[in-house]
Amino acid sequence: MSPIVIDPEGSDIPGESARLREQGPVSEIILPGGVPGFAVVGLPELKTILAGKDVSKDPRDWSAYRRGEISEDSPLYRWVGTRSMFTTYGDDHSRLREPVAKVFTRRRTDAMGADIHAIAEDLVTSLDATPTGSSVDLREQYAYPLPLRVLNELLGVSEYLAGPLRKCVDGIFDFVASPEKMIANQVEMFGLLQDLVDYRRDEPGDDMTSTLISHVDDPTNQFTAEDLVGTLYLTVNAGHETTVNLIDQAITALLTHPQHLAAVLDGRLSWTDVIEEALRYAAPIAYMPLRYARKDLVLGGETIPRGSAILVSYAGAGRDARVYGDTADTFDPTRANKDHISFGHGAHRCVGAPLARMEAQVALPMLFRQFPHMKLAVDPHEIGGGSNFVSNGHRRLPAYLHSK
Ligand code: HEM
Repeated sequence: MSPIVIDPEGSDIPGESARLREQGPVSEIILPGGVPGFAVVGLPELKTILAGKDVSKDPRDWSAYRRGEISEDSPLYRWVGTRSMFTTYGDDHSRLREPVAKVFTRRRTDAMGADIHAIAEDLVTSLDATPTGSSVDLREQYAYPLPLRVLNELLGVSEYLAGPLRKCVDGIFDFVASPEKMIANQVEMFGLLQDLVDYRRDEPGDDMTSTLISHVDDPTNQFTAEDLVGTLYLTVNAGHETTVNLIDQAITALLTHPQHLAAVLDGRLSWTDVIEEALRYAAPIAYMPLRYARKDLVLGGETIPRGSAILVSYAGAGRDARVYGDTADTFDPTRANKDHISFGHGAHRCVGAPLARMEAQVALPMLFRQFPHMKLAVDPHEIGGGSNFVSNGHRRLPAYLHSK
């Protein structure tokens, strides 16, 4: 079987996942940038490698990287070349993850509930001002700004930094940008995050940046000023587009499955059921670049040689028919087994999962209760895919807020 070439633009993630699954739970692929690797799409196989120690996220464990074959203008570089807890292994990873994991306490997440509520209410009020008969883009006008404003609250971003930072966040997921533009955007974003640190040093608050600054100042922690900016960069990137996709995909699923929308609105179905099924059905991170085999691995009938690149497919795992049966490709919040690993599994599992779930728990009922007769403004198949292979969302989500 010839290796499947992963589409860098992610134009048909469910179709590509299905083709990969046809080849088995583990298969050879060509990664964006033309680099060979392996995709793991099987749920049990993924759990095995993610929970174990034989697979690393440190690019120094990747033979092609060590040989200097992954240059700064490779489309993969932005995912593997920036040092943070995302690209480290073992003790190095624990050192960077621990202070951040501590920030996401139950108390802090719960305390953000009121902020999330206020942000969602404000956005719904703006939507309500749309002239009757005009359509809105629910991704651009609701799913996108909500998590961004939540992140600003979480990180203590000042008003004057919020605008420029938003521009940079857009740039990070712009996969058609030239390598020069991509690098310039990254440099600008690091600069803005340094400004944020300087600002919070002068004006500490009850926010994540201020908490991590005090962590840097304690010499027993081995958490440097550079680690701090890298962590903020990761948090903005990991916490924004992902949550946008969850809200976007859940809205889309409900608008295309009116029976489930009616059930959740009249209380026969819970919002938790809808959210967990949306996470399974359309994992907001489709593929996670990248992991590397630390030894020869025998997995799903394939051998992955030591030093190979491994692409984790969360979108594929969520549709594994060996786990979810013949209806794996159907959005059905009433199914008994909605367990998924769309927030990851093992050492790198998502630290922001409770916050993301809370955002969806507020955003979805607020929108659908205000506009219970919303309809898509285009045919479902015209919505199209997203713009890159990592982020599993839509470019746009046109809808009428009131039925016509
Ligand atoms: C629906 C929303 C979200 C989804 C689906 C999601 C998914 C994930 C996944 C799959 C991973 C593991 C990546 C891997 O395989 O290595 C991860 C890690 C991470 N997520 Fe999330 N995430 C979401 C929201 C958030 C939010 C809101 C934040 C913070 C504000 C956040 C911060 C992080 C961080 C810092 C990591 C890195 C953990 C590590 O490497 O140890 N995520 N996320």
